[in-house]
Amino acid sequence: MPVTSFFWVFILCFVSPPPPQASRQASGIPGMAPTEEKDGNLPDIVNTGSLHQFLVSLHEKYGPLASFWFGQRLVVSLGSVDLLKEHINPNRTSDPFETMLKSLLGYQSGFGGSAAEGHVRKKVYETGVNKAIQSNFAVLLELADELVTKWLSYPEAQHVPLCQHMLGFAMKSVTRAAMGSHFENDQEVIRFRKNHESIWSEIGKGFLDGSLDKSSSRKQHYEEALGEMEAALKKVARERKGQSNNHEVFMDSLLQGDLIEKQVLEDSMIFSLAGSVITANLCIWSTYFLTTSSSVQEKLYQEVTKVLGRSPLTFDKLQELRYCQQVLNETVRTAKLTPVAARLQELEGSVIHHIIPKETLVIYALGVVLQDDTSWHMPYRFDPERFNDEAARKQFTLLGFSGSQECPELRFAYTVATIMLSTLIRKLSLHPVADQLVEMKYDLVTTPKEEAWITVSKRN
Ligand SMILES: *[C@@H]1O[C@H](CO)[C@@H](O)[C@H](O)[C@H]1NC(C)=O
Ligand SMILES: *[C@@H]1O[C@H](CO)[C@@H](O)[C@H](O)[C@H]1NC(C)=O
Repeated sequence: MPVTSFFWVFILCFVSPPPPQASRQASGIPGMAPTEEKDGNLPDIVNTGSLHQFLVSLHEKYGPLASFWFGQRLVVSLGSVDLLKEHINPNRTSDPFETMLKSLLGYQSGFGGSAAEGHVRKKVYETGVNKAIQSNFAVLLELADELVTKWLSYPEAQHVPLCQHMLGFAMKSVTRAAMGSHFENDQEVIRFRKNHESIWSEIGKGFLDGSLDKSSSRKQHYEEALGEMEAALKKVARERKGQSNNHEVFMDSLLQGDLIEKQVLEDSMIFSLAGSVITANLCIWSTYFLTTSSSVQEKLYQEVTKVLGRSPLTFDKLQELRYCQQVLNETVRTAKLTPVAARLQELEGSVIHHIIPKETLVIYALGVVLQDDTSWHMPYRFDPERFNDEAARKQFTLLGFSGSQECPELRFAYTVATIMLSTLIRKLSLHPVADQLVEMKYDLVTTPKEEAWITVSKRN
């Protein structure tokens, strides 16, 4: 089971050995008793299908503040906006998503250093992402054009495999913006994609049950993919080092920043892995949700035509596409794009008068909160209008979905998706394929369970 497995590693890397003291103190919080002495509630998580689905039933039963057992460790989960508000420290700079990913890859740097070092590192990363977006804007537009041109050439009834095409588009976008012209070569992108798939499918699968360790062939496959990916990143770093490039990419910012070589490698790996998955799935879900509502498509088309006329999108015009932003925000919400985040409680704290002892693992059940009908009217409906409301925007920002400092990969994804949608909507109408039920698979990032098909037709 993907999610649970991934959490095992997370636990092993970060929070073991469990402090029994902490568990006893937090035990005033309502929640599940361990089902098995050694594994706690892990079997229950496996049985529900994903950590997100487990958390949904946990919070239904025990309310917004609930506890359960990850192995022998008591974990606290927060499942309402108010509790998250109380717990989230706006001064924190670390990104829980990045933290989890690093632990899965076994990366240590960036953790051990002082807070000031961490801050500098974070700044380099953020600035790098921003610069990469700006200086590669034309490249991203070109890639979106390429995709739309391909779809335009299809006969009207032809089914388009959305996931496959958007993954390809996202990987091209990420590799070009992160590493530059080295990835103009399609063969390089194909190799990147192959390795990416091998790594990402193991991140999460097979760690929990230790099945990756048990299967030497799978482990070898995973390690080879990781090794090839690292070698590719190192090669680009060597090539770009000391060169002056008028086309600045993410890697250049890392190389110019005061980072050690290992840090450059790890940061570019994180951005390449997470950036691709988040960008691809934001593009997949936004396009898919658009097929379900012709009125949203129409309104988006009107906005794009009004703001851009016949000119291509520019970086300066991004902010003017307000409705497009709402569409993307609503996509992140409806798809529950990153359903779970986790933090380690650094100092003793409390929520609604319950003590949360130091070193407790605190889960942010974002997926639960995003479908909570006390926070969102008709939460299962895809309705970009809800983000007209300032309160809704504030709430969403608080949860970490605004793409600001917390998650630079999300900001990158928002920009690429805006470029893609604004290009797409001017030329094409999008249609669902009848009788297709697209189910969600709640991994680290929520994806369709199976290929999502759509059809397109030319706008006249
Ligand atoms: C955040 O930082 C500000 C200014 O440094 C400080 O006043 C505030 O108490 C901090 N908030 C938390 C929750 O730590
Ligand atoms: C909505 O999406 C845009 C990007 O399209 C992002 O910049 C903005 O912060 C998001 N709004 C909220 C409230 O998260």
